[in-house]
Amino acid sequence: MNFNPKHILGIQELSAEELTFILDTAESFKEINTRKIKKVPTLRGKTIVNLFFEASTRTRTSFEVAGKRLSADTINISASSSSVVKGETLQDTAQNIEAMHPDIIVVRHGASGACHYLAERLNCSVINAGDGTHEHPSQALLDALTIRQHKGQIAGLTVAIVGDITHSRVVRSNIYCLSKLGAKVRIAGPGTMLPPGLDRLGCEVYRNIEDAIRDADCVMMLRIQRERQGASLIPSVREYARYFGLNEKKLTLAKKDAIVMHPGPINRGVELASSVADGPQNVILDQVENGVAVRMALLYLVAGGEKLQQD
Ligand code: CP
Repeated sequence: MNFNPKHILGIQELSAEELTFILDTAESFKEINTRKIKKVPTLRGKTIVNLFFEASTRTRTSFEVAGKRLSADTINISASSSSVVKGETLQDTAQNIEAMHPDIIVVRHGASGACHYLAERLNCSVINAGDGTHEHPSQALLDALTIRQHKGQIAGLTVAIVGDITHSRVVRSNIYCLSKLGAKVRIAGPGTMLPPGLDRLGCEVYRNIEDAIRDADCVMMLRIQRERQGASLIPSVREYARYFGLNEKKLTLAKKDAIVMHPGPINRGVELASSVADGPQNVILDQVENGVAVRMALLYLVAGGEKLQQD
């Protein structure tokens, strides 16, 4: 198979075959990250702009590392230090950057649909690094790669995702990705953080963590996204931790060899007890490590993949 999309805007529009091809490509890049000299000339001469309108540690750094390891020129722009603070619009900012002829713009923005909006207006490629509460495709792909690494396959597994479902772009991308790859996805959170219609996406919905994680192969915990909430959706953080936080006792409900995942950043003691976050079942830093390989794969495929060798 050959798959060279112009943009990566979401998991919803990708097929199981395309997702598997991206994961296989990422797998082939993993080895570069453990070499003594972690650099290949694949994207030499390409320019990648990381345009982040929201805070990020993992996504922005790993897109930058991924681009650099492929020898692309990478430039980071954060809204807080750009002319966005002077009132420049998203479209004007992006069009001005495009005038400098980048090949790919990686965008994180607080508005759902911002990446689609730019993809329709720019000539260069756009990769979604998280748009509002809509999608975070590279996160779901690195999660899938991590599950495959630890469990051998994704089809037939039960994956429980627990937390602030309403405000999570990670959960939406994961529901699409894991369902397409054949996993059973269970979702759980307080009623105020569960949007209606989730069952139509093919997942099972629970109002308590215990039922959701019982006999699960993977437990993925999500952070409460206070920056996206209006009025408080929970009586108190302490109460949330008690009823929806994952501790060692609750984790015994999942399969003995279940893995514990978190996209980060973790609110320790809220959704995840430190003993679990640092415990033997956690694969959280494997997720981060796989994030570099997945982003290398996305940059490579969007830039042309095998066709690059013919240029
Ligand atoms: N998981 C994730 O998107 O982390 P950052 O916000 O640090 O990029």
